[in-house]
Amino acid sequence: MRYLITGGAGFIGSNLVDELIERNTEKLTVIDNLKSGKIKFIERHLKTNKIDFINDDIKNINSYPKQSFDTVFHLAANADVRGGVKNTIIDLEENVVGTHTLLEFMRQQDIKNLVFASSSAIYGENKVRPTPESVPDIKPISHYGASKLSAEAFISSFCYTYGMKAWMFRFANVIGKRSTHGVIPDFVNKLKKDPTKLEILGDGNQEKSFFDVGDCINGMIEVFEIDKNITVEPYNLANNSTIKVKDLAKIPDAMHLLPPNIMESISHFKKDVLRGKMVSLDLEETLIALSISATVNPAAQMAVEKLKELAGCEVHMTHIPTPGDEAGLRKLGVNLTSDPDFSTKRLLGI
Ligand SMILES: NC(=O)c1ccc[n+]([C@@H]2O[C@H](COP(=O)([O-])OP(=O)(O)OC[C@H]3O[C@@H](n4cnc5c(N)ncnc54)[C@H](O)[C@@H]3O)[C@@H](O)[C@H]2O)c1
Repeated sequence: MRYLITGGAGFIGSNLVDELIERNTEKLTVIDNLKSGKIKFIERHLKTNKIDFINDDIKNINSYPKQSFDTVFHLAANADVRGGVKNTIIDLEENVVGTHTLLEFMRQQDIKNLVFASSSAIYGENKVRPTPESVPDIKPISHYGASKLSAEAFISSFCYTYGMKAWMFRFANVIGKRSTHGVIPDFVNKLKKDPTKLEILGDGNQEKSFFDVGDCINGMIEVFEIDKNITVEPYNLANNSTIKVKDLAKIPDAMHLLPPNIMESISHFKKDVLRGKMVSLDLEETLIALSISATVNPAAQMAVEKLKELAGCEVHMTHIPTPGDEAGLRKLGVNLTSDPDFSTKRLLGI
């Protein structure tokens, strides 16, 4: 099969490229303007000449010479819902005009199959939950949702008018490797900046359904390969459970490796018994606390198992480690060297 993938350098698109290469697809061409996509997501396939890459906007695609594709996977879009609130033309241009231009290209080049990345955002706040594809009143509440619904409408009219077929996948929130936007990367970025607080947009009662990008890709490919007897069909692709955003925000707290009671007793011991000024733990103390924690906390247990993999590694420190850190590193079985003159040497360029 010869596939064209629009948006193939993006989060979902690049995972799709990986999977299609894994499945030995005959020819893969990616078109992406790299607006939100990243070349590094597909770099290894470029190096091995497994894909042809066109760095361009799909709105220019009509000027391309005739090529032979069986199917287009259309994922290029403005996927930043909030961006469309500030700039109200972007969803119309990128998602509606972009899709129309692609459909026109397919008509001219006689490409019959389209697999389209639509979105559950088209349903807005529908009262029927989970919302079936056949729900009668579809009322998007975002420009992004409106643009995906408009794109679906054009896809439908092109299919019926020019004998094409389309599989339109209404994804819920997709998460996983290379995810760059949405609530989870947003939380992670905020926690990296300041782990002591987490800002939640909205009242936190928004219910979201998350599912893994691997399931998303496999779902799309399987349905496309099996459900051949269609003209144009929408498919919800999601997890059947949902979670409120405010409950999602509690997960980092629940993941804390050291339970508060252990932290409290260590800090009491250091401050009040040892009269130490610092309440933070050195590495040896951390390992002891983590081992105690691992007896009740599966995340801590996992961390202990991972730390064991460091045994035999070379670690070079640019200062003299504290006795506690040195003892901790010894416990981990790493080969430690240190150079207290590192900063001076760097300063003097030695
Ligand atoms: N991520 C999700 O949770 C989710 C949910 C529902 C639907 N979708 C849809 O799935 C598709 C992929 O989403 P994603 O999360 O991978 O987003 P993404 O932003 O990572 O991927 C979109 C890709 O399209 C490219 N692109 C954008 N406009 C283009 C244009 N005019 N011409 C050429 N390339 C262009 C971008 O550079 C990027 O590589 C989108 O259509 C999105 O609307 C995503």
